[in-house]
Amino acid sequence: MKRIFVGLSLIAATCAFVQPAMAADDLLARAKESFKAIPTTVPEIADNKVTSDKVELGKMLFMDPRLSASHLISCNTCHNVGMGGDDNLETSIGHGWAKGPRNAPTAFNAVFNIAQFWDGRAADLKAQAKGPVQAGVEMNNKPERVVETLKSMPDYVAMFAKAFPNDKDPVSFDNMARAIEAFEATLITPNSKFDQFLMGDKSALNKVEAEGLDLFMEKGCVACHAGTNFGGEGYYPFGVVEKPGSEILPEGDKGRFAVTETADDSYVFRAAPLRNIELTAPYFHSGKVWDLKQAVSIMGTSQLGEKLSEKEVESITAFLRTLTGDQPKIEYPILPKSSATTPKPLEMK
Ligand code: HEC
Ligand code: HEC
Repeated sequence: MKRIFVGLSLIAATCAFVQPAMAADDLLARAKESFKAIPTTVPEIADNKVTSDKVELGKMLFMDPRLSASHLISCNTCHNVGMGGDDNLETSIGHGWAKGPRNAPTAFNAVFNIAQFWDGRAADLKAQAKGPVQAGVEMNNKPERVVETLKSMPDYVAMFAKAFPNDKDPVSFDNMARAIEAFEATLITPNSKFDQFLMGDKSALNKVEAEGLDLFMEKGCVACHAGTNFGGEGYYPFGVVEKPGSEILPEGDKGRFAVTETADDSYVFRAAPLRNIELTAPYFHSGKVWDLKQAVSIMGTSQLGEKLSEKEVESITAFLRTLTGDQPKIEYPILPKSSATTPKPLEMK
């Protein structure tokens, strides 16, 4: 806590009790300038009112492997709600054991990101949800077949009608995505130790964690990882100062370049959200780093041009662990039963 202690060392000499209290006040005041706590109530979504009927339907769709061509893969396969909202694999495995090109980011708190995916190519969660259902390396299905599947199950038809009461044709690919988005809005993790600190409980962080928070702000991590989600708000080159080796930053994946096709966006990625980061190893879009400390150290050299000392890396990592919030408690839904007209699973070739 360089800045705080240098500034206060004179006062501290005369009044030994004042220093920790003032340091904590100062740290809290600075933290409040950059970060926001995860709300304890479900956030609103523009143009998609979150209702309990939509959330209930969205939960089923999120868990239902019959959205995939094989009837084997659901959103929850790769965004496991019991595992921090991801799959803890280097890169995801989808249809026919196909290995996707990127690590799965968590679906928890994704509602707070300005755009979805490592390169931000989907504007919001409903746009996002249509991607994996169709992606060859994920669920490999077709919108028409998904709709046919859902319409073949009377329980789904009834639930879509309830969730979208003003629609003439409620069972649609669009409404599937809307219901999933509403469910995902409930996947938030409030009440982390850090959030308790931010709301004024100065004893919520221990000394090392508080030092880590101070370093996170002083060293400049906060320039890219701020807001509610500690990231997910802007795009930066992975390697602002020094590009990591190709074992961590594979040459073939140029990130946002594929979205904007401007040369400046080569190897530019969305600053990763850091909430619940201790639960979502391995790290980076390549998923090549399993140790959070190593990820922090790489960020020091690649983004700040600074070799962080082992002690600094440890405090920052200890601080990042305070970003783990209450995990959503999801009761696994009983899914509608298939009928004679439900399309049969396709073979995985
Ligand atoms: C085979 C594994 C797999 C399946 C199945 C899958 N996803 Fe993903 N998901 C990923 C990967 C990998 C990414 C990152 C892809 C990228 O950035 O290019 C991702 C990204 C996301 C994101 C963006 C999060 C962020 O921070 O940007 C959300 C939200 C999400 N998926 C939700 C879903 C939903 C909803 C479904 C079901 C309709 C689903 N996923 C199915 C692997 C999967
Ligand atoms: C200039 C912007 C910038 C700065 C500064 C920065 N980061 Fe990052 N951070 C990023 C980007 C972009 C990514 C995504 C990299 C990728 O493509 O995998 C990232 C990823 C991460 C990850 C991996 C997250 C995951 O889910 O895989 C961690 C951990 C992290 N940063 C921590 C830090 C820490 C700690 C600092 C300060 C020492 C820091 N960052 C400084 C932009 C930045």
